[in-house]
Amino acid sequence: MTPSDVKATLSFSDGSPSMELPIYKGTIGPDVIDIRKLYGQTGKFTYDPGFLSTASCNSTITYIDGDKGELLYRGYPIEQLAVNCDYLETCYLLLNGELPNATQKAEFQNRVTNHTMVNEQMQFFLRGFRRDAHPMAVMTGLVGALSAFYHDSTDINNPEHREVAAIRLIAKMPTLVAMAYKYTVGQPYIYPKNDLSYSGNFLRMMFATPCEEYKVSPVIERALDRIFILHADHEQNASTSTVRLCGSSGTNPFAAIAAGVACLWGPAHGGANEACLNMLEDIQAMGGVAKVGEFMNQVKDKNSGVRLMGFGHRVYKNYDPRAKLMQETCKEVLQELGLENDPLFKLAMALEKIALEDDYFVARKLYPNVDFYSGIVQRAIGIPVPLFTAIFALARTVGWIAQLNEMIADPEYKIGRPRQLFVGSAKRDVKPLAQR
Ligand SMILES: CC(C)(COP(=O)(O)OP(=O)(O)OC[C@H]1O[C@@H](n2cnc3c(N)ncnc32)[C@H](O)[C@@H]1OP(=O)(O)O)[C@@H](O)C(=O)NCCC(=O)NCCS
Repeated sequence: MTPSDVKATLSFSDGSPSMELPIYKGTIGPDVIDIRKLYGQTGKFTYDPGFLSTASCNSTITYIDGDKGELLYRGYPIEQLAVNCDYLETCYLLLNGELPNATQKAEFQNRVTNHTMVNEQMQFFLRGFRRDAHPMAVMTGLVGALSAFYHDSTDINNPEHREVAAIRLIAKMPTLVAMAYKYTVGQPYIYPKNDLSYSGNFLRMMFATPCEEYKVSPVIERALDRIFILHADHEQNASTSTVRLCGSSGTNPFAAIAAGVACLWGPAHGGANEACLNMLEDIQAMGGVAKVGEFMNQVKDKNSGVRLMGFGHRVYKNYDPRAKLMQETCKEVLQELGLENDPLFKLAMALEKIALEDDYFVARKLYPNVDFYSGIVQRAIGIPVPLFTAIFALARTVGWIAQLNEMIADPEYKIGRPRQLFVGSAKRDVKPLAQR
């Protein structure tokens, strides 16, 4: 961290001594005020629920500028990575800091490929679930269960263990998601096939059956790979912060990632694309494109409580750069599958067009987010809506593990332990039961 020449001074209106606080500069983005000595010197905490103004760590992995609509992985714009690299190259970049050369890429791909199978016991573990369990409930359990299987990669303080755990997680997530899906539909699990690409293998494990091979379409394979790249990391969001906090106790890495999966499940985070597809299906049931105007009036009416799902973002107040890329992929996939005239997709395009031109959305800087298009693409590919968040978890696993490993390797790392402003009862005495 580079110290700034400027310092902040905190003064108090009651005459208590003021305090000088150091400021650090990042490579890009806002500076931070270092408050680590605040409690020691003033006896006071800071108050920032939701971390609206708090940097919880320093990181070299991902940078987002929401006003500009910019997303960088290790300094590289997402637009360039999505066009020039595949998902495994992106994983290598996030984990190691640099893009691989051809030899490094082949070695990495080989290592990941050699870890795609899961312990055969995992299927018996899966059997304990109801067939109608939500895939994210199943994934939370399965990822947590990995910690019981791989005893040679559980010491978070050993860099080799951390590396093997990272490879195992990246390699096994597609296998687990596909198993969770097959279990729901009552079909036999399809084992990984190592001569396929990362996304090609996933598609086959999802859609092949022992009686019918699945032919991987290069357009669909590339589309899925792009979904994975675009979801690979997004700096200190809720699930990543959960993984860091959970891992800060020194817990097993698979358990820390399971905590990330649990957090991602929520509709305010990874569950948004599912909500978007459900919204499209509801409008379709009400009459489809003909009802778009009526629906938009409800969205603009503050009392209706209706929101246009897949639009707006807490950080991006400009076009989400991932949404632009996903929109391109969406068109390619619909064309490849001959779905340009599918009523649901026509409806999505009609909504998008109106929203991009409507003053309500323009004035509030509400643009389509990545979830708007990724839901449409996944549905077109044949992925069931409840599985969308599990696909997101699969893709985000590399980000979680890169962030977790960065934290553990940081000499300044401490167990995460927020403070609180206590507003409950002051100390009081317990009365015997008869007197309460
Ligand atoms: C993502 C989201 C929670 C961000 O919310 P936020 O940054 O807190 O923005 P706010 O809720 O303060 O909204 C700002 C304004 O835009 C409006 N707005 C935001 N998103 C909207 C949407 N999707 N549809 C209609 N109006 C929306 C709000 O009503 C508010 O209007 P006002 O200023 O007149 O009161 C929000 O845009 C949303 O709910 N989007 C839909 C869900 C979604 O797609 N989530 C995926 C995120 S990746």
